[in-house]
Amino acid sequence: MTVTDLDVPVHDLPLFPLTRHTPKLFGEFFALALGMTDDTGFKMRKHGEAFRLLPALPRPLSFPIELYIDHWAGESILITSPRLMQEVYALPPEAIDEAASKKWSRFVFGAQAPFVLAGRDHQTARQALAPELTPAAVERYRELSNDVLDSMIDRLAIGRPIKLHQFYAAFAQEVILRFAFGIDDQAQLDRLRRTLNRAIEHCTGTGRRRALLGFMAGAASRGFKAGSDELPRYLAAGRKIRRETDALIQHKIDELRSRPNDSFASRLIARAETDPFWTDKVLRDMLATILIAGHDTSVTAYDWATEFLLHDDDARKTLVAEAKLAATDTYAQAVNVEALRLKAPVWGTQVFTKQDIALDGHRVRKNTWIFGVTTAVHYDEELYPEPGRFLPERFFGTTPDRHGFLAFGAGRHRCPGSNFFFAEAGIVLHRMFGRLEMRPMLDHVDDTVMTFGFFNRPKNGTEVVVLRRRESREVPAFTPAEQTSAGVCPRATSLDNPDKELLA
Ligand code: HEM
Repeated sequence: MTVTDLDVPVHDLPLFPLTRHTPKLFGEFFALALGMTDDTGFKMRKHGEAFRLLPALPRPLSFPIELYIDHWAGESILITSPRLMQEVYALPPEAIDEAASKKWSRFVFGAQAPFVLAGRDHQTARQALAPELTPAAVERYRELSNDVLDSMIDRLAIGRPIKLHQFYAAFAQEVILRFAFGIDDQAQLDRLRRTLNRAIEHCTGTGRRRALLGFMAGAASRGFKAGSDELPRYLAAGRKIRRETDALIQHKIDELRSRPNDSFASRLIARAETDPFWTDKVLRDMLATILIAGHDTSVTAYDWATEFLLHDDDARKTLVAEAKLAATDTYAQAVNVEALRLKAPVWGTQVFTKQDIALDGHRVRKNTWIFGVTTAVHYDEELYPEPGRFLPERFFGTTPDRHGFLAFGAGRHRCPGSNFFFAEAGIVLHRMFGRLEMRPMLDHVDDTVMTFGFFNRPKNGTEVVVLRRRESREVPAFTPAEQTSAGVCPRATSLDNPDKELLA
């Protein structure tokens, strides 16, 4: 509903934070984005369901942000409730732009990555992704993932501290590389995995928190060049990594063009033969997106689910019993959803208004940035009683509210990879906890460190000591009876699926 359609009077959102709360709220927001505090997003609920982050910034003060979001009018609004998230995503497509505020991400994913595409181009990209990520399609990787993880578990050191974040990253990188390129040459896979790992650590590594500022300044300076996704010269390390990864991706595209195989990249290349949309640059941006978005957030989610289980004896016992029986993965999936609720790997979902809109009876002006604070929404007490507690049982037999569970975002850019994630995450929890007895190095669930402004990680990398390991043959692997949605959290797959029509 746009403001002109309204038959009730509308008022501008109150300048609520322009009180003694303003500096505190402002401080909370940026301390979190810069990785200087634990995930305090949920605390923002105390400021209300919708409020301005700052009073509207007049020009020239708004100018630095305009470099990241074209046409920004100096207004920013934070939302903390499922009710208002629903209002935002129920707005007609012409009222909001879901890609505008992700302009900076093109320096990593590319100027034609799905994140920043809109309209028909975005539809075409989603159309290519949708059939690859259905519940049935992702089941094709189950056996491979079980084998890769089991052999990695066989090689894990016993009796000394190891960081599971790195272990999970190595696993997820191998699987996503095989998904993207269908590689079966282990030496080539290891080479590509090392490059991917270097790229991801360069962006989201916990040791590189301050690098974000340099990157954002660089992105702003390049913002002047419409469509450019080349980093400025002074970000030499980033440029070098980008050059190397681009060369490797192009090499794989060329190789698969002459020798196609059963992989996502091969099927994309086949599309390129008949559809001029799929230039080599678009192929590169899609593949870079899948390689990065398709594993890094999943690794964080494995970390948090592991953290919660390590510090909750009852939940761990239930999970271990389920893993040993291998008849279902229902409990593992409830753990995964609950961990995503408490510690969403991406801490916000954002849109930009293209028209004046009404939000909760208030006028929100055209060209305003709206940020849904995921953890705040995930702490809604009506939907999730005792929201701060880890209670996987709350997801038995229920569907998380469509706008009250935002781990995978919302709207047209909602993550297409949730089926892939749940299939892999079920395997990770069953094999890790079914085969290993582990002692955490911390006596509490770790704190968050926000990396690259947006991505939540456990500060200490989920450090454990493995006390005992069972042979893989002692713990059967779960296989869903039907190659459909079985084995994948029904609650998660029934969430808003923007690709339904694409698959019809
Ligand atoms: C726990 C795991 C994951 C989380 C929390 C997650 C989160 C998200 C979020 C919040 C978005 C929306 C960003 C936006 O609004 O622009 C997104 C987009 C995306 N995700 Fe995921 N993701 C996960 C796993 C995956 C996996 C496994 C894949 C692929 C195999 C994947 C591929 C993508 C792609 C391609 C997009 C861009 C979609 C678009 O712009 O249309 N993600 N993800």
